[in-house]
Amino acid sequence: MSGVDDVLRFDPEAFEEKACTLGERTVRYRAWEGLMYCERPADPIQRLNLFAPVSLFDGSGAYDAQSAPIFMPNTVGGYMPGPADQPGLDPHGSGPNSIFCALEHGYVVASAGVRGRTSGKVTTEFFEGSVGGKVSEATGRKVGRAPAFIVDYKAAIRWLRHNADVVPGNVKRIATNGTSAGGALSALAGATGNVADYEPYLHAIGAADERDDVFAASCYCPIHNLENADAAYEWLFCGHDDWHRTKHQRTPDGGFIRVPDEGVMPAEQAALSPLLKALFPAYVNGLGLHDEEGNPLTLDADGTGSFADWVKTWVVASAQRELDTHDNERNRGWLEVDGSQIDAQDYLRIVDGKVVDIDWEAFVGKITRMKATPAFDALDLGSPENEEFGDEHVDGRHFSPFSFEHNTAPGAEMADAAMVRLMNPVTHILEGNPDVTPHWRVRHGSFDRDTSLAIPVILATLLKNRGFDVDFALPWGLPHSGDYDLDALFSWIDNLCA
Ligand code: DHB
Repeated sequence: MSGVDDVLRFDPEAFEEKACTLGERTVRYRAWEGLMYCERPADPIQRLNLFAPVSLFDGSGAYDAQSAPIFMPNTVGGYMPGPADQPGLDPHGSGPNSIFCALEHGYVVASAGVRGRTSGKVTTEFFEGSVGGKVSEATGRKVGRAPAFIVDYKAAIRWLRHNADVVPGNVKRIATNGTSAGGALSALAGATGNVADYEPYLHAIGAADERDDVFAASCYCPIHNLENADAAYEWLFCGHDDWHRTKHQRTPDGGFIRVPDEGVMPAEQAALSPLLKALFPAYVNGLGLHDEEGNPLTLDADGTGSFADWVKTWVVASAQRELDTHDNERNRGWLEVDGSQIDAQDYLRIVDGKVVDIDWEAFVGKITRMKATPAFDALDLGSPENEEFGDEHVDGRHFSPFSFEHNTAPGAEMADAAMVRLMNPVTHILEGNPDVTPHWRVRHGSFDRDTSLAIPVILATLLKNRGFDVDFALPWGLPHSGDYDLDALFSWIDNLCA
């Protein structure tokens, strides 16, 4: 498919030259905005912005138009729609966003707008990772539920391949990036390359007939593995019945403020926690995970065992790194959780500058539970994830047998197993998809309680066990957040390309 009728054909000459200045820093770039990446979009958000730094064309940068990696940051948060973005300020951070920084670094950036659970209606919800502002239009067509976000991301990847000979950058070097639900999206792009079961959805929107595997996936605190996340959450937080969260409330000027919201679970709700916790060992034991020496990582019925010790070693390694460098305190102090400073953690036993032990229950009590039981698949279908598993006609569904059994919503349905599978990167890695991306970078703050610490540990360990290249860490003291170490992320990508 190419020629005069090919609406997906890219015109490299149709750019506008732009500049973005933030403080002392300026990037100059060619911009192609509002491009169609699929022939039959279902929602106005399905457009793509492509940016290339002028350094690609004048020989002043490390890359040229043939060699540059194509960085694909998504703006998804909370499984909401993620619109195509521009170079500018990060809505959560203290500085330029990842598009600005990637252009400054010499990468091509493809920012694809993707549908989400609130597509078709206007909402004031707001999540980490999202760009903020109005993310969906009141079209009345709720066409953004699962698996729309990954279908759109894949369509944009296919669009780049379709135009491989004319787009700036190297389509063999596509690196996805996202935070939270957007991190899950990046992980899905990494895990589900060329998996045939997305094909009907890709066909429906008129995606190009191309490969959709990627070179590298960067995932900040990916909220993924949803059907196992409730059990993983209670494995970590069972016995801690008080929850502490922060609501994001919009301000009239389009910004947001953080408002504390806390409570204690009533006894009836707390009683569900041990039931869910009890489901976790069978799940973990079925994964066949092992450590670097080949020792099996498993859990006993009470939730203790080598897998539990393995999760602790990652937290201890994180504490050790921070103790050695104070990197987060110095460079990301604005982001660190209050009271997380490494020198003030009395549950760590430190001998001669070495973290030799952690009082795990005290650590868990310190970071606290954020979500009441069950954390993801709400019994009343009230969670963002329930909505994600809805469709145009059904507003939300359960996705785990436990919550379906304990359902309190009238007429509730269970999502199809096939749909749950399309939303879980771990399933595709376990199945041995041959086109899983070779390179992974996973970050999850050690104080991030949006999902259990077991969830990123399972993803990273499984990938390592299957022979993939994984750079994994739980940066000390950081909450649910992303894009806080872009220099390190870009060095990682540069090394992969060297
Ligand atoms: C996000 C956070 C959550 O706690 C969740 O359950 C889903 C998504 C997010 O920030 O994207």
